[in-house]
Amino acid sequence: MNLSKDAFDGHSQLGFGVYLLKDCYKQVYTALSLGIRLIDSAISYRNERECERAIQDFCRNSLDVKRDEIILVTKIPDSMQGFERTWKAILQSLRRVDRPFLDMVLIHSPKWPERRLESWRALVELKKEGIVREIGVSNYNVHHLEEIVASKLPLPAVNQIELSAFNSRIEIQEYCSNHGISLMAFSPLTIGQRLDDVRLLDLAAKYKRTPSQILLRYCLERNISPIFKSEKLDRIHENAGCMDFQMNSQDLAWMTTWDEEFVSKPSWNPIILP
Ligand SMILES: NC(=O)c1ccc[n+]([C@@H]2O[C@H](COP(=O)([O-])OP(=O)(O)OC[C@H]3O[C@@H](n4cnc5c(N)ncnc54)[C@H](OP(=O)(O)O)[C@@H]3O)[C@@H](O)[C@H]2O)c1
Repeated sequence: MNLSKDAFDGHSQLGFGVYLLKDCYKQVYTALSLGIRLIDSAISYRNERECERAIQDFCRNSLDVKRDEIILVTKIPDSMQGFERTWKAILQSLRRVDRPFLDMVLIHSPKWPERRLESWRALVELKKEGIVREIGVSNYNVHHLEEIVASKLPLPAVNQIELSAFNSRIEIQEYCSNHGISLMAFSPLTIGQRLDDVRLLDLAAKYKRTPSQILLRYCLERNISPIFKSEKLDRIHENAGCMDFQMNSQDLAWMTTWDEEFVSKPSWNPIILP
């Protein structure tokens, strides 16, 4: 099975994130039942096992969804960067999810200049060995990606960064697109901090959708996979509703002018690191 073809084909899809969820099993199961096929975890979230259990149960109970159609993302934390540590971290994750391979592994942030390329080298090897199906990075700016380009190692399939209508990251998208790197957007709802923006409310009224659905749709229309989170099952339902409508190009272009380089949690902004 080639995950790139079957599950992650580089086209945008809605993702569900599980950072700090109290009852992750229930939310992941709900997200899957609404058609979401991308689940975003990380070693530091300490819930890979619970995510995998929800995925396995969902596949067992559903007649037509195979495990291969779902992607569980995990990430190597800063504390586990470096070749040996990354390798060891992956083996530990494998044991936690009790599978022969991981779907997708990202380097969580570019924090350590002297270690991140070694982590990347480990991921490249792990992919060659078939232990990880797809590899990528997170919070990488253009200069971090250029380091990988200069190393002549294979490039990441994915870069997961904070991105929303209020932080449109046009330059990074252009760079990634030119290098065949897909984008995932975390905090696409600005952790709720811009949901009452009047321009957004106007668009929501125009499309008869909610502000969250408009923000998620904005990413999908730009071929970026938005990763949202909610504790609440009715909001997961609401947000999944971004998958069944379209927005016109004038409105998308307008949303791109809302860019204010908004960062939802200034204490976590590793993309600016050297
Ligand atoms: N790679 C990285 O460095 C990184 C960093 C941050 C996040 N992430 C990933 O991205 C995921 C999502 O990020 P995030 O939680 O920061 O941002 P987010 O999805 O933009 O915001 C989540 C917040 O929005 C609220 N919300 C969700 N749907 C809503 C709706 N329909 N109406 C009103 N409020 C709504 C949620 O509250 P309720 O729970 O109360 O509904 C929650 O407080 C994380 O779980 C994680 O997987 C990755």
